[in-house]
Order: sequence, then C-alpha cells, then structure tokens
Amino acid sequence: MAIRVLLLAGALLVLACSHGATASDPSLLQDFCVADKTSPVHLNGLACKAAKEVVVEDFYFSGLHVAGNTTNKQGSAVTAVNVAQIGGLNTMGVSLVRIDYTLFGLNPPHTHLRSTEILTVLEGCLHVGFVTSNPENKHFDKVLNKGDVFVFPKGLVHYQNNNRTSNAVAIAALSSQNPGVITIANAVFGAEPSIPAGITTKAFQVEKSTVDRIQAQF
Ligand SMILES: *[C@@H]1O[C@H](CO)[C@@H](O)[C@H](O)[C@H]1NC(C)=O
Ligand SMILES: *[C@@H]1O[C@H](CO)[C@@H](O)[C@H](O)[C@H]1NC(C)=O
Repeated sequence: MAIRVLLLAGALLVLACSHGATASDPSLLQDFCVADKTSPVHLNGLACKAAKEVVVEDFYFSGLHVAGNTTNKQGSAVTAVNVAQIGGLNTMGVSLVRIDYTLFGLNPPHTHLRSTEILTVLEGCLHVGFVTSNPENKHFDKVLNKGDVFVFPKGLVHYQNNNRTSNAVAIAALSSQNPGVITIANAVFGAEPSIPAGITTKAFQVEKSTVDRIQAQF
C-alpha cells in the first residue's frame, strides 16, 4: 500500500515537472541562440546564428525613451521589444513593451496566448483589469498609480484604461520572446473576410444592424 502511494506521488511529481518544463518558451540548451532571420529553416522559434557571428548589438535595442504615437481611435500605443527587435531574445522566454496612453486612452481588451504580463506604471494613473475563463468570467480590476505593479495571468483577457486628464506611461514584461496579441474586438469584428453576420448576431444576441455598425469601425 505504502509503495503504491509512493509510486503515485512519484508519477504526479514527474507530471508536474514535465508540465512545468513546457509551460513557457522552451528551455535553453546553450548560452544563447541569437535569431538568424535569414535562415530558411523553420522551427518553433527562430534558427540560431553561428555563435562566432554573434555581436553585442544582437542583445541590444535603443529607443524605449521615445513615446509611442497615441493619435489613433483608442488613444494608446504599444512599442514592442521582442525577438523581432532583439534577435538575442530568441529562446529566452521574455520580452518587453512600452505602452503610452493619452488622456482617456485605452489599451483595449486583448490576450497574449503565450505569456503572463507584469506591468508597472511609470507615469499617470491607469484603471486595469482581467477576466477569468468560463464559466466564472470573474472580473478583477484595480486603479494603479505611479510605481504600482500588476499581473495579467497568461492567456486571460485584460485591458488598461487611462481615465484621467494626464498622459500615462507603463512598461510591461512578458514571459515569451513572442507573446502574440489577440485584440478581442479586432478578431471578432475586424476579421478579413468577416465572420458571417448570422454567427456574430447570435453570439452577441444583437440585431444585424448593430453588428454592421460595429464592423464598420474596423
Ligand atoms: C501620429 O499618427 C497620426 C495618425 O496616423 C499621424 O497623422 C501623425 O503624423 C503621427 N505623428 C507623428 C509624430 O508621427
Ligand atoms: C477611473 O476609474 C476608476 C475605476 O473605475 C474610478 O474609481 C475613478 O473614479 C475613475 N476616474 C475618473 C476620473 O473617471
């Protein structure tokens, strides 16, 4: 009996460990694997540059002091620093964004399929929140001030809203070299070609004219 319990505990531990190993970007098997963007080889991530061709600039980006252009419908701008900007982030499992919000600017509800996000407010005040998965769909929200830090768990729909009359700036770290973004409104109403009206009207329980009106915004 004791042996069976021990075996079960062992099996659970192995399961937990193997799950942990696959819960984020893959573990490194070498010091680095700087992205070779010219490689014709396709794999999960990007092929590595030859180590002897790697230079210090492969780990460097400059420009995050510059505010993004928030002249758009949402009044926010995300400046990403991921593997596309820093080849050295390939296989490292992290990346960064700067987010600028104009007065009443919104970073609309979206999700990062591959990463948890930890955000800190550098300037201003933000109302932030996320919603848990079905069936609870519980909404957690909070007003953040300068220096406050907040976590958006991996894959959950979240937003940041600047409901003040001063600009806001945040920096967020993400647990993937390529977090991916799905903005809910764009995916549902801005899809190209569009999702048939019969599907969206039923899903949102509204008239076709309402769906047409929303689709026209994208
Ligand atoms: C910001 O974006 C707007 C809208 O696309 C554009 O008209 C404007 O020239 C941009 N401003 C700067 C400083 O790039
Ligand atoms: C901003 O949003 C928070 C949370 O909903 C609210 O408590 C606060 O009063 C709002 N501020 C303004 C200026 O609307």
